[in-house]
Amino acid sequence: MKHHALVIGFVGIVVALITTVQSVNLSYANAEERVAKASPNKAAVERSRRTVQMLDNIFKQTIVMVTDKYVNDDDDFAAGSAAVLLFKKISDDSDKTIRLIDATGDPYESENVAKDAFEKEGIKKLKAGAKTVDEVVTRDGKHYLRALTPVPVVMQKCVMCHAHYEDVKAGEPIGAISYTVPID
Ligand code: HEC
Repeated sequence: MKHHALVIGFVGIVVALITTVQSVNLSYANAEERVAKASPNKAAVERSRRTVQMLDNIFKQTIVMVTDKYVNDDDDFAAGSAAVLLFKKISDDSDKTIRLIDATGDPYESENVAKDAFEKEGIKKLKAGAKTVDEVVTRDGKHYLRALTPVPVVMQKCVMCHAHYEDVKAGEPIGAISYTVPID
């Protein structure tokens, strides 16, 4: 009887020890995976930031140029419409997702609004003066840079179709471009 109790006690201790060692190992592995996922290579994140800056510059220059040269009355095909179409095509055909969204609460098209927490919080930060907002995310084990850049009322012509832009405080963005680009 005594002997049995000793053996059972001993087996119990061994099982408890093995379980503890395993769970320590497991949580160590999980922690390592989380750290690895949370912080991709810094140089790679910088490259993605530069990609966003380059795209952002091209898009904004193009929107302003098209509005300046081609849009003369409110029946003309708006640069905003062209941008929405272009961003949809890029998002469908590549590993990037790009959207043009409203920051005034009164979008021309109800689809063009902040949809998730990153975009909603980001819009607030841009309106408070941030030049750009970004964040690293992981989807299906792959890293992406999400970024939001401000769209200001750059010219009087914008007000021709978006009359309420006139009421926006000087310097405050009326919209944003939302980017999701892979970190390679
Ligand atoms: C000719 C009319 C017209 C002009 C001028 C115009 N827009 Fe737009 N804008 C539109 C239309 C129409 C949409 C909706 C496009 C869509 O979803 O297909 C739009 C969409 C937008 C959006 C996305 C949010 C929303 O309201 O749906 C932003 C931001 C925007 N325009 C900013 C600007 C800026 C900045 C200018 C000046 C450079 C400008 N627009 C000039 C007609 C115009």
